[in-house]
Amino acid sequence: MSKKTLVEVKNLSVHFPVHGGVFSKRVASVKAVDGISFQIERKQIVGMVGESGCGKTTVGRAMINILRHVAPEVEIMGNIEYHFDDNIVDFAQLRPREMRQYRSRVQMIFQDPYASLNPRMTVAQIISEPLQLHTNMSRKEQTERVGWLLDKVGLQPEQARRYPHEFSGGQRQRVGIARALATNPDLIICDEPVSALDVSIQAQVINLMMDLQDEFDVSYLFIAHDLSVVEHISDKIAVMYLGDMAEYGDAQEVYHHPKHPYSKALLSAVPLPDPTRKNRERIVLKGDVPTPLNKPSGCAFRTRCPIAIASCAESKPVFEEQGKNHFVACPVVKS
Ligand SMILES: Nc1ncnc2c1ncn2[C@@H]1O[C@H](COP(=O)(O)OP(=O)(O)OP(=O)(O)O)[C@@H](O)[C@H]1O
Ligand code: SF4
Ligand SMILES: [Mg+2]
Repeated sequence: MSKKTLVEVKNLSVHFPVHGGVFSKRVASVKAVDGISFQIERKQIVGMVGESGCGKTTVGRAMINILRHVAPEVEIMGNIEYHFDDNIVDFAQLRPREMRQYRSRVQMIFQDPYASLNPRMTVAQIISEPLQLHTNMSRKEQTERVGWLLDKVGLQPEQARRYPHEFSGGQRQRVGIARALATNPDLIICDEPVSALDVSIQAQVINLMMDLQDEFDVSYLFIAHDLSVVEHISDKIAVMYLGDMAEYGDAQEVYHHPKHPYSKALLSAVPLPDPTRKNRERIVLKGDVPTPLNKPSGCAFRTRCPIAIASCAESKPVFEEQGKNHFVACPVVKS
């Protein structure tokens, strides 16, 4: 742990109970996140990738501590330790009331800018809501801050009186970014913030987010399906598979020298023409991702892994350092 540490996620598991039968008894658990560890430093961008359903959004929701609102019976185990000022605050253990004072410090930008903005509120109301809840700003100060933020995200301060439906998808996401930045947070969870936008404007929004990250000194957990998006913007890359973390390390290292067979397969599928990867063979994974209701024993990836051996079924691989700051959950590639 260094002075720059913002948050340490330690052995985080998130299980959603599944009920069934006449008495609606608990019959199983969805192991959406199954004991992952990683950390984010101040002013750092961590890109998180993995196939649909592997637990990325659940990790993000746990880190902003909104899972209990979404699913009251959720079981959260492990620790999510934020280093705020001189205190360490564990969001995994905080009750909603205790959480109030920290709400402004971690924000989220959602995938769908159409669904995530209240259609009955003006842009001014949307952006000033966190200011009303978490600061002592007067109305005048709030109005000034809203205008300033709109300018920062490339919109006109006069557009504050408009409603979300009057904006394009890209503009709406800019409003979402302004709202997330309003309280000067330490961390923003960016949950696939451009995947619902036209390809032609994705780069504009990502570039804006990078400029703002620099200006506001904020950290991002940037969730994406596509490794080619996160390579260019991330300091670190985390690769998730079925609730587990397969690999975590410096972005260039993971991108150019992936060790885990799943990361190798994901990277081999990146469609962008890139001269440095000309000779990389395309690895096509067989089968579908198993359900987190019934994870394979041992290594969860073994049913699709091209280099699996018998012992992979026996115990869950230890997530260990296999190079400087490069963590991998596969003993086979180590040996
Ligand atoms: N509120 C919930 N109740 C029950 N199961 C849930 C809930 N939220 C998520 N899950 C399950 O947890 C697993 C992980 O879901 P999550 O949304 O975190 O994946 P994801 O990686 O974000 O997927 P995508 O790329 O499609 O957004 C899935 O099997 C999902 O069905
Ligand atoms: S532990 Fe075995 S199944 Fe899992 S990634 Fe490594 S080789 Fe493949
Ligand atoms: Mg998701």
